[in-house]
Amino acid sequence: MSEPYEAVWDIDELDYPAGGTNDEILRFILRYAVLAPSGHNGQPWSFHLEDGVLHVRADRTRALPTVDPDDRELLIACAATVHLATLALEHFGHYPGVRLLPDDTDPDLLAVIAPGARGPMPASRELFDAIVHRRSNRAPYLDVPPSDEELARLRGAAAAHGAWLHPITEPDRIAAAADLIADGDRIRWREPVFRAELARRLIPNRGERRDGIPGYAFGVPGVLAPLAPLLVRHVDLGRACAASDRKLTQATPALAVIGTDTDEPIAWLHAGLALSHVLLRATADQLATSFMSQAIEVPELRPRLAELLGHSGYPQLLLRVGYPTRDARPAPRRDVATVLAGTSVRTVATSRARSAVRAVSGSRG
Ligand SMILES: Cc1cc2nc3c(=O)[nH]c(=O)nc-3n(C[C@H](O)[C@H](O)[C@H](O)COP(=O)(O)O)c2cc1C
Repeated sequence: MSEPYEAVWDIDELDYPAGGTNDEILRFILRYAVLAPSGHNGQPWSFHLEDGVLHVRADRTRALPTVDPDDRELLIACAATVHLATLALEHFGHYPGVRLLPDDTDPDLLAVIAPGARGPMPASRELFDAIVHRRSNRAPYLDVPPSDEELARLRGAAAAHGAWLHPITEPDRIAAAADLIADGDRIRWREPVFRAELARRLIPNRGERRDGIPGYAFGVPGVLAPLAPLLVRHVDLGRACAASDRKLTQATPALAVIGTDTDEPIAWLHAGLALSHVLLRATADQLATSFMSQAIEVPELRPRLAELLGHSGYPQLLLRVGYPTRDARPAPRRDVATVLAGTSVRTVATSRARSAVRAVSGSRG
């Protein structure tokens, strides 16, 4: 009998190996990092420990070529693991050293992270605690808008990583965004390749697989969840999804768009760090969040979303934000042993990677 999906979210802080080697510490920290969100819960990351330094790599075998042909969202998700690892290290009293894209000859090596020295650092307990409580909550939210202070904190969380966050709270602009989302649904569902890609990532409400989206995440009960992939693969549900997403979005008190001023791998990593920080900030403030990426993934809709914001930059993520009407169940994750083993890492680090590792190893934050 396999463990329930929830088990991986149950981490005992007391298991932190104080006094352990850097490899032991990083191995423990990875338990938090793997809880990062990812498109279709594909978890497109792999990790490698080398001489007390964590190498975070893109696992492009887990890419979603239809919805994410440039691996933009893939890099966003991997960067969220970097944020969680860094936050957890800080929580346990480290001054981590982090270098993004340390080797321009190795685009899959997204970050190197060294635990760094230990010292009395005022890490954010609130954000750390939020790691194991954050969920994508796709249910309707209460008709109560987040306060100006809460929205300002979300803006601050994005800005801390060189990204921006624009809240949308006016009903007419929320309605306009809902129209874009509905357009995205109709356009996407028409494509059999999109439906096949999604179908491959839909999983039953319990079972052996530790990646993919369980039926319960979309309110599908246990007996029906195993049938969902068949339905999704063969039926264009675009009209029904568009109607339901439009209604859900229109009834949401706030949307938030996270974006960047450029649109290239380093910007996607900054967007991912910002995303993770924003989601944890929202969770700490008891706010629920969920993603509506179709208005950004469909190429012709993305500039229309930017226009709606009145912003010349690049929207990277579109979130619903509000107070939850019900709790969401945690989604499964591949455990640390799986993402550390089974990796396709380069065994010989290039000289650039080695000098980045030396730099982060000596870093004091
Ligand atoms: C870049 C990115 C895009 C996503 N887009 C969507 C989306 O369009 N719709 C959706 O329901 N969830 C979306 N998600 C959420 C994932 O499905 C979710 O993170 C994953 O299933 C794991 O569940 P959790 O967030 O509850 O841990 C996205 C996540 C990321 C990181």
